[in-house]
Amino acid sequence: MPDLTPLAKFYKKTRQERIDTLEQAEWISEAQARILRESLGLSDNTASHMIENQLSLYQIPYGIALNFVINGKPYLIPMATEEPSVIAAASNAAKLVSLSNPDGFVTESLDRQMVGQIALTNVTEPDLAMLKVQKKEEELLTIANLAHPSIVKRGGGATSIQVKWIPANESNPDSFLVVYLTVDTKEAMGANMLNTMLESLVAPLEALIGGQRLMAILSNYASQSLVRATCVVKPQILASVTYSGELVRDKIISASNFARADIYRATTHNKGIMNGIDALVLASGNDWRAIEAGAHAYASQSGSYQPLATWSKDEDGNLVGEIVLPMPVGTVGGSIAIHPMAQLSHQLLGSPQAKELAQIIGALGLAQNLAALKALVTVGIQKGHMSLQAKSLLIACGATDEEIEPLTEALLKEPHLNQETAMTLLKAYRG
Ligand code: MEV
Repeated sequence: MPDLTPLAKFYKKTRQERIDTLEQAEWISEAQARILRESLGLSDNTASHMIENQLSLYQIPYGIALNFVINGKPYLIPMATEEPSVIAAASNAAKLVSLSNPDGFVTESLDRQMVGQIALTNVTEPDLAMLKVQKKEEELLTIANLAHPSIVKRGGGATSIQVKWIPANESNPDSFLVVYLTVDTKEAMGANMLNTMLESLVAPLEALIGGQRLMAILSNYASQSLVRATCVVKPQILASVTYSGELVRDKIISASNFARADIYRATTHNKGIMNGIDALVLASGNDWRAIEAGAHAYASQSGSYQPLATWSKDEDGNLVGEIVLPMPVGTVGGSIAIHPMAQLSHQLLGSPQAKELAQIIGALGLAQNLAALKALVTVGIQKGHMSLQAKSLLIACGATDEEIEPLTEALLKEPHLNQETAMTLLKAYRG
């Protein structure tokens, strides 16, 4: 296990000192340290080829969460986020988990396949059509694989086809015959791969069963790319001067039950989880909108919107957390190969395979939820936010680095933490 001692009080160091520390501790190479020091972003050329009408770059801070141990392995977790306190919260929660159990979070990938769909309308004999599709499954899979042969060479490819008839009803005048294609996309997220395969099946399907193509597209409801992360926290580790560990544990369990019972709370509970998840998904060059859409659909699978992470107590009185959600991330493809920071993120994580990356992201989401619930049921979240909030207000007023330190302290003592007070203090300080 690498020596974590140099990372103590990491947050108190300057940016340069943090990078130096990581380099000296051999967490990062000289080349990686240079990327961080120089904040190497996208080149003009790369950026202008990534999107249309490109004008400039929009930057977001990039940091690392500490203290994470997952399945016995320590990780530094890169996070790209504009929100104060998120990285500190994740690091604190990860510490509670690794103090309780040296193996840290326990995670697993339940599967790693992507699903896409082809919808046909005006199918006149749906039962016969479904039988025909089932009978021709092997031939259809071959057509799909021929459309993207490189994935077959890499040991993946189309694995199965399902078919469903959705009849018209009172609220929906159209009926649909839907063909679902499942593909093992290996290390890729697989959106392009799926879409190519699906489009190759449209004409053969129309020829086989009649009807008319409506669309062929990957589904972001990645129900076959589920990841699970669990953790155990001993109550004594949750204790503070004001609260017993058992009380904090029971309140966290109650907060989890509250999220099960109330959609207003469940939404915010899940938003907090996505604070962590999105930050790593973004830092790893993956599509965070896809992950968001899949997560919220999964949260609604029972018919009511539910919390993605839940908390309970084991027979020894420990707090036990569990999160399950779709995590179809890739380690190749998309912007991963062209974005230097995405590449660096993968390297910081030890170049994990897609399944391992998905599990790290799951653990981070669970940590983020633990931190939020612990704060909410004890001191509230504003306390932790205040200092960074004060700094942001001062920066917005034009305060320099030298002015920020003394003025943050002064601003925190004021009854109203707002831009007006920050400006008044800054003007008074400048005389
Ligand atoms: C803020 O970005 C996230 C929280 O609201 C999450 C939560 O309430 O669980 C603190």
